[in-house]
Amino acid sequence: MSAALGGRLALVTGAGRGIGAAVVTALVAEGARVVATDVAADGVQALADEHGTRVAARTLDVTDATAVEDLVDEVERTLGPLDIAVNVAGILRASHVVDLSDEDWAATFAVNAGGVFHVSRAVARRMAERGHGSIVTVASNAAGIPRTGMAAYAASKAAAVMFTKCLGLEVAASGVRCNTVSPGSTLTDMQRALWTSADQDAAARKVIEGDLAGYRTGIPLGRIADPADIADAVVFLASDRARHITLHDLYVDGGATLRA
Ligand SMILES: NC(=O)c1ccc[n+]([C@@H]2O[C@H](COP(=O)([O-])OP(=O)(O)OC[C@H]3O[C@@H](n4cnc5c(N)ncnc54)[C@H](O)[C@@H]3O)[C@@H](O)[C@H]2O)c1
Repeated sequence: MSAALGGRLALVTGAGRGIGAAVVTALVAEGARVVATDVAADGVQALADEHGTRVAARTLDVTDATAVEDLVDEVERTLGPLDIAVNVAGILRASHVVDLSDEDWAATFAVNAGGVFHVSRAVARRMAERGHGSIVTVASNAAGIPRTGMAAYAASKAAAVMFTKCLGLEVAASGVRCNTVSPGSTLTDMQRALWTSADQDAAARKVIEGDLAGYRTGIPLGRIADPADIADAVVFLASDRARHITLHDLYVDGGATLRA
């Protein structure tokens, strides 16, 4: 896949660290220019410093519909038409339902589902007018398998997956493809925040082995994903190599959800 994305302009949300930062790096490696956005300024600025003119940094809270519209408008006026948008911004507030606060439920949906809606709506309208574009939403394998302590997160990710598929159906005839990448446990700050043990190796082993009481199936491939594993799947779906793939949900979870 050498320079599969030469000449393309991509927007990435939640790009400041973890999977989003890896997606930016992978898109740049394939020749794209990238607008790296995040609610926190530091990480995206570091990416811009690292990649020079290939990466433009912007702060963006995806829950703010007006800010999203303004940002997409400004980017297209100053940098050019967007060919690719990748929804990576997400939050996880783990809690059993009986203890889940209204605030945690609302915040989870505001970012994980509302943010995907705001960004996808803003870019899809413009891409459809131009007759081409690719939208990739990073969801989660939690959207497809029940987990204890993750009801709000899993439900919000399931909403994001179905939203992206429905949008894909609406804009397919206009040449816009919409797909989701559903990662399993991936070594980022979000994953580490779930670990209760101070011994990082022991905590990782627990994830890989699984937990029957929690209905977690473990990871058959025997490793926790690196953010680059998820980024490779995003780049493939964003590129013309996937020109006949839309409405697809690509699981990158080492077999954790027992998909073939
Ligand atoms: N790490 C995993 O194990 C894992 C597994 C499955 C799915 N995912 C999903 O992958 C995506 C990236 O996860 P990660 O592990 O890199 O997480 P992370 O917490 O390391 O990074 C998430 C990024 O999103 C940003 N963000 C949060 N709220 C935002 C908002 N309102 N507007 C804009 N940006 C916002 C954060 O500032 C942060 O930079 C998320 O959608 C997550 O749900 C992660």
